[in-house]
Amino acid sequence: MKKEKLIEKYDSHVELHSKQHPTIERWRARLLDGVQGSVLDSGVGAGGNFPYYGKDVRLTGVDFSPKMIERAQEQAVKYGIEADLMVEDIEEVDLRAGQFDYVVSTLTLCSYPNPVRVLNRFGEWCKDDGEMLLLEHGLSVNKAIRALQKGVEPVFHQVTGCHVHRDILEIVRRSDLELVSAEGHWSGIFHLVRARPKRV
Ligand SMILES: C[S@@+](CC[C@H](N)C(=O)[O-])C[C@H]1O[C@@H](n2cnc3c(N)ncnc32)[C@H](O)[C@@H]1O
Repeated sequence: MKKEKLIEKYDSHVELHSKQHPTIERWRARLLDGVQGSVLDSGVGAGGNFPYYGKDVRLTGVDFSPKMIERAQEQAVKYGIEADLMVEDIEEVDLRAGQFDYVVSTLTLCSYPNPVRVLNRFGEWCKDDGEMLLLEHGLSVNKAIRALQKGVEPVFHQVTGCHVHRDILEIVRRSDLELVSAEGHWSGIFHLVRARPKRV
């Protein structure tokens, strides 16, 4: 799908992505517990992670949807977060290397055209002792669910802009990041992942 079309789609999905799901909220809370310092939230959306950031977080949020960024601005004020929010494509944005304590990506790897490249960029932007925190969804480990996901993929992508048939752990393994831990949920559809930049 063309980028302009994808942006239009996400612009029209602000309300949908502002809704909370109790299980996902629990995962966000666990993943982001203890996050502090300078944080990049990639594909920040409507600010779904904001309730879980401490007051001392200095947040940079990137999203290519202007409507999502508008909503994220409102949420940053609501939660008292110091946030620099920018309308940019994460595959093209120019950020200084080695500046973030944490790079957070929740429910976004399904949308990027080149997820491995994006993870590699996360690794470059992260401090040497920083961490990447991911909450992502992808292909299930259950054969029947996988078949269903592969079947619905073309239509699902057209409707939502998101790919349901990506192998998240394989994407992390193919990237330059070092996998620290991964936790699978819901027949392996959802993953909570911690990773570090691999330095040579
Ligand atoms: C499913 S939403 C998730 C939003 C948020 N991270 C959350 O957890 O609620 C995916 C977000 O990624 C953004 N996005 C997708 N591709 C992008 C890209 N190439 N650059 C920047 N943002 C992108 C979309 O605009 C959308 O806001």
